[in-house]
Amino acid sequence: MCGITGYIGHRKAYPIVINGLKRLEYRGYDSAGVMMFDGDQMHLSKTKGKVSDLEEITNKETYRQEGNIGMGHTRWATHGVPNDINSHPHFSESGDLVIVHNGIIENYDTIKKELITRGYTFQSDTDTEVLVNLIEEVKKQEGCKLGKAVQIALTQVIGAYAIAVFDKTKPNEIIVARLGSPIAIGVGKDLGEFFVASDASPFIEFTKDAIYLEDEEMAIIKLGKEVKVRKIMDDSLVDANIQELQLSLEQIEKGGYDHFMLKEIHEQPKAIIDTYRGRMLADEGIIKMAGVDDNIEKFMNADRIIIVACGTSWHAGLVGEYLFEDMARVPVEVEYASEFRYRNPIITPKDVVIAISQSGETADTLAAIKLAKSKGAFVFGVCNVVGSSIARETHAGAYTHAGPEIGVASTKAFTTQITVLSLIALKLAKAKGTLSNSAFHMYLQKMQLIPSKVEKLLQIDNKVKEIASVYKDAKNCLYLGRGFNFPVALEGALKLKEISYIHAEGYPAAEMKHGPIALIDENMPIFVIATNKGHYEKVVSNIQEIKSRSGKIIAIVTEGDVTVKEIADHVIEIPDTEEALTPLLTTIPLQLLSYHIAVMLDKNVDQPRNLAKSVTVE
Ligand code: AGP
Repeated sequence: MCGITGYIGHRKAYPIVINGLKRLEYRGYDSAGVMMFDGDQMHLSKTKGKVSDLEEITNKETYRQEGNIGMGHTRWATHGVPNDINSHPHFSESGDLVIVHNGIIENYDTIKKELITRGYTFQSDTDTEVLVNLIEEVKKQEGCKLGKAVQIALTQVIGAYAIAVFDKTKPNEIIVARLGSPIAIGVGKDLGEFFVASDASPFIEFTKDAIYLEDEEMAIIKLGKEVKVRKIMDDSLVDANIQELQLSLEQIEKGGYDHFMLKEIHEQPKAIIDTYRGRMLADEGIIKMAGVDDNIEKFMNADRIIIVACGTSWHAGLVGEYLFEDMARVPVEVEYASEFRYRNPIITPKDVVIAISQSGETADTLAAIKLAKSKGAFVFGVCNVVGSSIARETHAGAYTHAGPEIGVASTKAFTTQITVLSLIALKLAKAKGTLSNSAFHMYLQKMQLIPSKVEKLLQIDNKVKEIASVYKDAKNCLYLGRGFNFPVALEGALKLKEISYIHAEGYPAAEMKHGPIALIDENMPIFVIATNKGHYEKVVSNIQEIKSRSGKIIAIVTEGDVTVKEIADHVIEIPDTEEALTPLLTTIPLQLLSYHIAVMLDKNVDQPRNLAKSVTVE
């Protein structure tokens, strides 16, 4: 939920830390701070606001030119409002130790009270300041080195953390640790330098070698030496597994687009191909997915599939429900992970649970997985971020291969999740014999055409922009769809509200008459998905009902549509495909529409207020 970055080596630390924070800002952006060590003193700058606000402050500081050790933090507040004092880094009571932290220390209050009785004072309302003081107290009591003190302190805390800690009295090392929040160490092998970050993006131009800590591991990073990784609970040494990063600088830059969201919308044709590449062999009529192949019996014998996810991933899960039930004839339940984990759900070893998450770090989804595993269910992950917590926690899985998604509003994550779910549903349908051979082959051929159809749709951007300019000042919007496109209506509404702050509701089209119809008047824009095969006539009747109440209709129809064109105020045409694959197309104009409205309203598209890219707290 927050972004951590750090450096120890021979280079100037400041530019590495500050540029790293800019790349991690998607993780949280309500306050930011840096600590730079000049060889003698630690210099701290922190502020409420974005990394650019922090830079305005640090621009005046001479320490930018000094020092080869530094750490930084970009925050999404949990304990304590976003303000200058609550921003990280935090010093310990003596001023010797400094910490940056991503996560939550749940028992911070008990520890804080105990530390107060020992004379500690606190400047901020954060749990993080409690942790750095606990480390200091352990160090004092035990008379040990920083690494040992961090280890002992962490055995006393309950919660989640990724931390980096530095001690100015032993300025040749940084200690990092993780439980529930990711942390990566970039290894500049030849130069004995090290980078620390919540993900690898801050150090990608310096090294391709990275160590990802596992939960309950800590690392002692000593300048010019090798990294030592230990288990926090039993102090045993672990082999530091250095992985070669596949990430490129190009992937994490805007590449000429004004916003990451727009870049990611336009990346969808390629992202969908990357998702099915090597898996779907359309001409041979084969779908190969190791995670499914190796566990096909579990899928075949499942009494039901339970899909757990949050937000956009939950919407993709709803599309999955339609796909699995329609093609593979298996009952599916789609659950908000946050509700599922707390409502004592009935789960049996004959259930297959599919957890969907772009980041692979969403706390509620992770907790739902752990619950399902404890009840004996087989858990399959659909994640984008390779090596993420959810990818590791699940029994098997399939990556979406969408590439880094940096805009907070999910776009390519959604379409690639649907692509993976379509492949699994088709594969299962074939194995179960619930779909004829010819239908299976037909779907594969049609799936192969989807990327070029998305490409074609992206070319109507100007038309969507025009529609956006007409409705940008709306106060409320309604999104309607049926069948496979009901989840797309929900997703369209979520996209609009999260980046433009316009209130929007998604509904199954036929439900409109059970309540939302009361909202309709001449000021209400209603986005209706009315593709030619999806209960078309029924949706046309819904459109008539809206029209007779003076609502403004923006319809998404199949190319060549005649009927809706005559009634709607605006139509956007999508290329023809099978109904089950239409969500991959109908969602594109809705993403573009939300994007353009947000830009026209001068909103921060990539970093909407109050949100963060991965929600690692409950
Ligand atoms: C999507 O636009 C959102 N910002 C959000 O709903 C997101 O989909 C949700 O938090 C789940 O994230 P995940 O896919 O990384 O688990």
